Amino acid sequence: MTTQTPRRIRILDTTLRDGEQTPGVSLTVDDKIEIAQQLSKLGVDVIEAGFPSSSDGEKKVVRDIAKLGLNSEICALSRATKGDIDAALDCDVDLIHVFIPTSPVQMKYAVNLTPEQVLSSAVESIEYVKKHGVKCEFSPMDATRSEMPFLLKVCEAAQKAGMDSLNVPDTVGIMIPKTMITLIEKIKTVITVPISIHCHDDFGLAVANSLAAVEAGAAQVHTAVNGLGERAGNASLEEVVAALHILYKFKTGVNTRLLYVTSRMVSTLTGIPVQVNKAIVGENAFAHESGIHTRGVTEKPLTFEPIDPELVGRTRKLVAGKLAGTRGIKAELEEVGIHPTEAQLDEIVQRVKQLGDKGKMVTDADLLALTSSVMGQVLGEEKIIDLCDMQVVTGIKVIPTASVRLILDGKEYIAAETGVGPVDAVLKAITKLTNNLEMIRLKEYRLEAITGGSNAVAEVVIKVEDEKGIVVSARAASEDIVMASVEAMINGINKLLLKNHKQGNKP
Ligand code: KIV
Ligand code: ZN
Repeated sequence: MTTQTPRRIRILDTTLRDGEQTPGVSLTVDDKIEIAQQLSKLGVDVIEAGFPSSSDGEKKVVRDIAKLGLNSEICALSRATKGDIDAALDCDVDLIHVFIPTSPVQMKYAVNLTPEQVLSSAVESIEYVKKHGVKCEFSPMDATRSEMPFLLKVCEAAQKAGMDSLNVPDTVGIMIPKTMITLIEKIKTVITVPISIHCHDDFGLAVANSLAAVEAGAAQVHTAVNGLGERAGNASLEEVVAALHILYKFKTGVNTRLLYVTSRMVSTLTGIPVQVNKAIVGENAFAHESGIHTRGVTEKPLTFEPIDPELVGRTRKLVAGKLAGTRGIKAELEEVGIHPTEAQLDEIVQRVKQLGDKGKMVTDADLLALTSSVMGQVLGEEKIIDLCDMQVVTGIKVIPTASVRLILDGKEYIAAETGVGPVDAVLKAITKLTNNLEMIRLKEYRLEAITGGSNAVAEVVIKVEDEKGIVVSARAASEDIVMASVEAMINGINKLLLKNHKQGNKP
């Protein structure tokens, strides 16, 4: 019996180029370098580092990334003009990605060129790149809305001019998997160089279309971390890679176990949150609440987990809520070393459901609090951090500033921070101190309920996350929003640290 070697698909990651074109994203030089280093560690084949002709700063950062000597090849984007290509050549990159529109609408309204001018610019640009001994990937932009005879004519001419690979951009995301397969097969009748695919997610089909292109023979996929990119974004790196490895049984150079940390890093540096139900890297991607699910996964993970969470750098999370079952709550409590009797467990589950029925989110701290009351003992109240005192200053023409004094693992620490408001300042000061023990960040902050007049009770729900992606939620209520925020934060950090200590993850 012969076993076939799995197909090896290349990944070109464009987080630093198309991803940076995400509205609202602007990365600093240091951010871009940090992301490039992580992408190389992750194992992508090519990093599209930027668009050098767009600004002097961009040119410098692409050059700086090219100088890092990373394992991934470094690519620069360039329009089909001599000036753009010169800017890319100045950066000493391994590969120049030259693009020019080929669809009637973009040729006329985006660049105001005739088809003949587009054809000759493409050919001259590729020849110019190749004359300098640099690899060239060529993109007929908006390929999927181009007229087929013209598209094929440009592709053939580009191949003759020496392009090393052809990228097929679905610039406005209008393909479906079936039309994508037909298109790639058609292009393959005239093209012999490797084909790349670059899909946008305007109809939520970027990943499906990229995979269809691979099925039809594309050798490389353009992706962006967390699916960042123009408008609805590009094909998400983590989804494409997980599908290629797990569903198609193909290979890439990516170490899938680093997918989650990479997603977290990019979300933090770009300031673009990842939706909770996003595949692979969303907070809920490996979370289970309903009774039948938690029972299933604790008995046999395969029941409701198509992927071992560890394979993509995640851990399973069982969540208490109105749909929760006994097994899930039992497992959740056991994780932190609490072992109620059967009768106590039934009572705890009932109380969790009552809380859930009131429309409340049941935080990890809530679960411990009601478990304590059912078991008649104080549980999870050991404190690794404890607030001694704090002060906040805010006002007109004053930068909101907070100072806090904390006991951290038996030692006293003081820190001060400024913020956009008093809550921001004080929470920043707390994390500044707790980072001495473990890197913990505030993942979510919600002012859940305010009742009454100016003396109303504010209820704050927070989620904190450690470096391993363990998330713990907590709440606190007070007439003073700053105090409610601080209490919830300290509560959450304590629960997270205790959970890690109980599970032997002490840093
Ligand atoms: O979406 C697109 O067409 C692009 C090109 C620059 C390839 O990003
Ligand atoms: Zn694009």
